[in-house]
Amino acid sequence: MENEYEFELLYEGKAKKVYKYNDYELLIEFKDDVTAFNGVKKNNIVNKGKINKKISSHFFELLNQEGMNTHYIRDYDDKAFIAKWTNLIPLEVIVRNYAAGSFCKRYGVPKGYKFDFPLVEFSLKNDELKDPMITKEAILLLKITSKEILEDIISISKKVNKILSDYLEKVGIILVDYKLEFGLSKENNQLLLIDEISPDTCRFWDAKTMESFDKDVYREDKGDLITAYTEILGRLKI
Ligand code: TMP
Ligand code: ASP
Repeated sequence: MENEYEFELLYEGKAKKVYKYNDYELLIEFKDDVTAFNGVKKNNIVNKGKINKKISSHFFELLNQEGMNTHYIRDYDDKAFIAKWTNLIPLEVIVRNYAAGSFCKRYGVPKGYKFDFPLVEFSLKNDELKDPMITKEAILLLKITSKEILEDIISISKKVNKILSDYLEKVGIILVDYKLEFGLSKENNQLLLIDEISPDTCRFWDAKTMESFDKDVYREDKGDLITAYTEILGRLKI
């Protein structure tokens, strides 16, 4: 398909396209494509991109206000935002507050078990290897990042958890788990929270009914994705 924007396309992922906006800034376009199980299940769902852009912008604005350093600068249009250009650290940081998804499969525990403290896990961001889990020690041995940066990533991930969980609790949503990514700013090497924070990358459950308003609706064929994602827009009043 033709590219939507006149800027140079630097990278196309499963759910986003990244363009060069200027020497230090990127334009990030949210696509309507949705995938699960490492791209095995794939669809195009009209308006998904716009909804995820809106939710991501909202969470990044909140985190910026709370003093967290994120790549988000400003919205560009209804399906793209402008972000600081970073060199990506190839890790997926998973934070879990309740047992769900691959955690349940791995350890044979029932979904919904509430953890005493947030669990931080890592995967190596590598599509060919299907994003294998990686330990902190292996991250350091493979020199994926330094000890100092890894410690900062963990402490930022926990702060983000507190900010987002408290915020969502007020609108009756449980933040079950989510995935974060980090990069180092091209301009000054600052560690920044990057990528997106959306129902594609988080599990959101209704606090009363435990109903999912996230990509599990699509992964598990349990309803309409747009209806579920729109519920998050409504709760956030955006
Ligand atoms: P998991 O239970 O499948 O490991 O997923 C944990 C969280 O991470 C869940 O909120 C979904 C999110 N996630 C992504 O954003 N991208 C991925 O590729 C995977 C596997 C999970
Ligand atoms: N994002 C991954 C994929 O596209 C996995 C997932 O979210 O379930 O396949």
